[in-house]
Amino acid sequence: MLHRPRRLRQNAAIRGIAQETHLHASDFIAPLFAVEGEGIKSEIASMPGYFRYSLDLLETEVKALEKLGCTALLLFVKVPDELKDNEGQEAVNPDGLMQRAIRMIKDTVPNMVLMTDVALDPYSSLGHDGIVEDGEILNDASVGALAEMAVSHAQAGADFVAPSDMMDGRIEALRIALDTSGFENVGIMSYSAKYASCFYGPFRDALDSAPVDMENVPRDKKTYQMNPANAIEAKREVELDLQEGADMVMVKPAMAYLDIIRQTKEISSVPVSAYHVSGEYAMIKAAAANGWLNEEEAMVETLTAIKRAGADLIATYFVKEILEYLR
Ligand code: PBG
Repeated sequence: MLHRPRRLRQNAAIRGIAQETHLHASDFIAPLFAVEGEGIKSEIASMPGYFRYSLDLLETEVKALEKLGCTALLLFVKVPDELKDNEGQEAVNPDGLMQRAIRMIKDTVPNMVLMTDVALDPYSSLGHDGIVEDGEILNDASVGALAEMAVSHAQAGADFVAPSDMMDGRIEALRIALDTSGFENVGIMSYSAKYASCFYGPFRDALDSAPVDMENVPRDKKTYQMNPANAIEAKREVELDLQEGADMVMVKPAMAYLDIIRQTKEISSVPVSAYHVSGEYAMIKAAAANGWLNEEEAMVETLTAIKRAGADLIATYFVKEILEYLR
């Protein structure tokens, strides 16, 4: 036999030098959930081991993440119901929870890259990423609101805004709004290929942000998020976002969309991120809790596969576990 591929698998040292993909602490983005109040660290029922924090405890948490070698954060907020409306007006309150959280984090860990979620759903009384009218999620009106939201995050100190809404034309609109407000150095990480996925379920529990059950309000996000059956369309979304000035593009979810991550890596001239979403985390946690999977092995294999597929950056709720593992 001329070829014996098993020679490269003989022992751990040989496997080590032959290994193609390595995980590093700087590959990861830590999603954060902020809530109002004090002394609050509440576990999300469908995301065991993951918590919402009030700002005082979030301060401790971001310091701990920095100590573990984490370099990037992606901030979400859980907005009290009484502050929600169809237009998501609270999203631009300069003293809103998001804006206060941004200021606290930039004060506490100024060297970490702070990214903020831009979409109306946490602020929407109807649970949609945009403004709803007559059963329709309005595109252009929503883009206007999202652009103001992005500027508000930039004013508070965000390094990158991360639009997760999937409205058409929002990257260009955000870029223009940021530049004309003097924030030409604030970046945009676009959720370019975001699918209408059942795997976001636990996240909507975390933020209480699911579409409401009301007449004339769509119960799903299929008129703006992508059809899971489509790949060519993802190419179009990525190309448009690059033309519109995205600094980074994202594919979401990750595990069931490795082909889309690979395809995006091949056409993208900017870093590609992937979001290992709440339902993907929950599945591994649930199987491990039942003794059906080894949690650490499942985590390492999954995150390595996402990177191997082409992700330069991975947002994951396993962030602390993987950083501890990499130490
Ligand atoms: C909403 C948003 C969602 C996630 C990030 N931003 C949910 C949705 O689109 O309904 C999902 C993240 C996760 O499931 O971990 N703009």
